[in-house]
Amino acid sequence: MPVHGIKNVCVVGAGNMGHQIALCFAIAGYRVKCTDINPEVLRKAEEFADRYLPERVAKGKLDVETARRARANLSFTTSLEEAAGDADFVIEAILEKLDLKRQLFARLDKIAPPHAILATNSSFIVSSKIAGATGRPEKVCNMHFFNPALVMKLVEVVKGPHVSDETAQTVMEVSRSMGKTPVLLKKEIYGFLVNRILAAINHEALFLYDMGIASYEDIDTAVVLALGHPMGPFKLMDLTGIDLSYYIGMERYRETGDPAHKPSPVIVEKFVKKEWGRKTGKGFYDYGDGK
Ligand code: 3HC
Repeated sequence: MPVHGIKNVCVVGAGNMGHQIALCFAIAGYRVKCTDINPEVLRKAEEFADRYLPERVAKGKLDVETARRARANLSFTTSLEEAAGDADFVIEAILEKLDLKRQLFARLDKIAPPHAILATNSSFIVSSKIAGATGRPEKVCNMHFFNPALVMKLVEVVKGPHVSDETAQTVMEVSRSMGKTPVLLKKEIYGFLVNRILAAINHEALFLYDMGIASYEDIDTAVVLALGHPMGPFKLMDLTGIDLSYYIGMERYRETGDPAHKPSPVIVEKFVKKEWGRKTGKGFYDYGDGK
């Protein structure tokens, strides 16, 4: 059930995370407009929705009426004005680049109605770095989903010093209305909870690989069979996107100037070769057709 007062949702960015976040909202009963500057990315997002909803019905995981209503409530447009103009709630899921996010939020602030919450799905960037680009910092908040967003139940809600109690509570409620379990971070910290833990695991896995201690397959096998993770760190980087690992490392290095924060050699190599994981058909592993 949608949260009272929030009907129209705008999802900005239809890539790895955005297309699934849009579907999560639509399935929960919100009217969703999903937007991206790249029409090809939007087309793929729409194709995914057209494939995913009937598949869920066929699997008995979604009833026909919910799927029909979700599809009817979900539209795609390259126009940010059209997508955000009547939004009660906006969530951004674009590239992990601070300057791009600030530019986007400055535009959203002009386009979206004054009451609208402007949330960011950023993996690492705290919303206080973005909120100042708007005239409504108290309504700018981190709402962080996990990949694949349709499956993973957790949402991190981060209450930066500028975020009002009302905004944080609304984002928590919106998360629950989508069947997610939100956790509240009472203070901002780079990387939040999960990505800080994941970064520590990835850092060590990449170190062991770059040192030639073991193959990435064996490191994945070790983590799955000894720690019980559903997939090892290299397979997970293929899922979340090696481009994302690269951008996160570079942004962090730009911020701190600490060479230890630079992406590892193998991440740089794969980024340059455009071996970004599942989305390009090859990362550490080969996916053939990209699936
Ligand atoms: N999109 C949507 N649904 C998917 C999916 C995808 N890409 N991949 C799998 N699923 C669904 C399947 O449809 C299936 O649903 P059902 O059980 O309701 O029918 C269910 O997930 C299980 O799928 P499979 O049986 O095909 O495969 P697995 O059991 O191996 O599960 C997985 C796949 C859910 C991806 C599991 O391997 C997993 O949980 N991996 C870890 C994912 C993880 O750690 N995510 C967090 C990453 S960190 C992050 O996102 C932070 C960000 O900032 C980068």
